[in-house]
Parts: sequence; C-alpha cells; structure tokens
Amino acid sequence: MTQRKGIILAGGSGTRLYPITMGQSKQLLPLYDKPMIYYPITVLMLAGIREIAIITTPEDQAQFQRLLGDGGQWGLRFEWIVQPSPDGLAQAYLLAEDFLAGNPSAMILGDNVFFGHGLPQLLESANARTDGGTVFGYRVSDPERYGVIDLDDQGRVSGIIEKPAQPPSYYAVTGLYFLDGSASQRAAQVTRSERGELEITALLESYLAEGILTVEKIGRGFAWLDTGTHADLLDAGNFVRILENRQAMQTGCPEEIAYENRWISAEELQARAKLFSQNRHGAYLSELIN
Ligand code: TTP
Repeated sequence: MTQRKGIILAGGSGTRLYPITMGQSKQLLPLYDKPMIYYPITVLMLAGIREIAIITTPEDQAQFQRLLGDGGQWGLRFEWIVQPSPDGLAQAYLLAEDFLAGNPSAMILGDNVFFGHGLPQLLESANARTDGGTVFGYRVSDPERYGVIDLDDQGRVSGIIEKPAQPPSYYAVTGLYFLDGSASQRAAQVTRSERGELEITALLESYLAEGILTVEKIGRGFAWLDTGTHADLLDAGNFVRILENRQAMQTGCPEEIAYENRWISAEELQARAKLFSQNRHGAYLSELIN
C-alpha cells in the first residue's frame, strides 16, 4: 500500500504580525503552552502520517531543527526543505517532489489550528481516498480573506476563488489539503498569478476540472483557527487555554498521540515527561503512563 506523506508549510513572511515576526518565524510563536507548529504536526499525526517534510525559510530552518530535531522523539521522521522565497502554497509540491516520490500527501499550513470532536474520523475518510483530492470547507464570517468555495444550485462545488471581493459563499477552504500522487506534476503546470504566486487554488482547480476534488464541509462546533493577525494569535491562544483548563486534556500534544499510536514506548514517554518536570506538561505526560 502506498503511504501518505505529510508536508507542513511553515515559511512565509508573516508581515501582518510585524514587528513580532521580524526576528522569528510565525510558526514558532507560542499558542498558549506550545509552539504553533505543534498543532499542525499533531493533525498529521492524527491522520496516521509519520514521514513529514517541514518547509521553512532559509533563515528560520535552524531554529525549527533546534525545537523539533529529527522527529524520533515522537516516532516520526522529519525531512527539512527550504523555500527560498514565499512564492505561494502550490510551490510546496514542487519543493517536496523528491520527498513525495509520487506518493499521496496531506499538506497543512504551519499556522492552522484544527480542533473538534471527530477530527480523527474526518481525517480518516480523507486518507482513505487515494485518487483525487480532498479539501475542507469551513464557514467563516470573513470569507474575503480566504479561498472561497462557489457552490452550484445543487450544492456542488463549482469553483474556488482566491480572496474574492464579493465572496460567493461563506465557506473558506482551510489550510489542509489531501492530494493524490499527481500533485507535484500538476503543480508544475501552475503559472504565477497576478500577485506573483503559485496559488493553491490553481492546483485545486486542476482536480476540480476533472471532477476529482471532494470538499468536506466541517460543521458547527468545530474550530478552525488561523493565527495570521495579532488578534487571531491571541484568540487562538486563549481558545487553547480555555479548553485545556476546562477539560484537563491537552490539544496539540505530540507525545500523547505518539504514545496512543504506540509509536513511542512508555520509557520514551517518561523521558519526555522528565524534560518538562517543571510544568504542567510534564505532569500530564506522566499521568498518561499511569
Ligand atoms: P499567509 O498567512 O498567507 O502568509 P504569511 O505567513 O507570509 O503572512 P503575511 O500574510 O502576514 O505576510 O501564509 C499562510 C501559511 O503558509 C503560513 O503558515 C506561512 C505559509 N506560507 C509559506 O510557507 N510559503 C509561502 O510561500 C506562503 C505564501 C505561505
């Protein structure tokens, strides 16, 4: 069976978060008690993906490596890829072409947070489709900031429009894309948009034109947060804090998923717990073993 591989796109320039991101990558900033990139990593882990390419800017790569290592601490393997300049989301499939080697993939943006009961099942159904692509539509109050789904009379997807001034629906395409093994080949056909980027919407359109793009709508009670502005960043951090305090359960905890999936042993988990013995994270990990 072909194994789906993961990509985390964690480059970009983060200009909306200036001056915070003038000295470090957005995806290394904290969301309450964890670095932002932990959240997308755990989404891929929940999809059962263990081989992950992490794409960063040239300047930030060393800092990411210092934080994340080779992934072995979570039973993963990280491959490190540099994006010389932020030329668009579809470029990820060109940069990761050798890594993917024709395998199906799941790409997630490094600043996207997903949370909700039923997330593993949602990921599972996307994972099971090895031909074509799957994206997720989420109802937002400000669709003009995103790629927006256009629906026909029957509620079928007829198009995806990047940052439209007059959005045809409230459904934004989230930053999580399950594509088949043809993604890199298709990305090579994408030409630059007016703003000079290789747009993910152009890549998705190539699937849509062949009728092989599935759009799963994510329902009520499910959080998709992005963290691109100062207010978004604070809101997402507060959201994580409220959930974790109320339920005494963590969201975005790689050790927990790795242990549950039996990708790491109790001893390895204990070693991680020891690293965090000075805070709640350590106690939480110790409790998982008991
Ligand atoms: P954006 O939020 O669209 O861009 P940005 O992060 O550069 O921020 P700003 O708009 O404030 O300048 O990017 C979404 C995610 O995709 C984010 O995690 C960064 C990542 N990204 C890349 O890694 N490479 C790219 O070429 C682009 C466009 C984005």
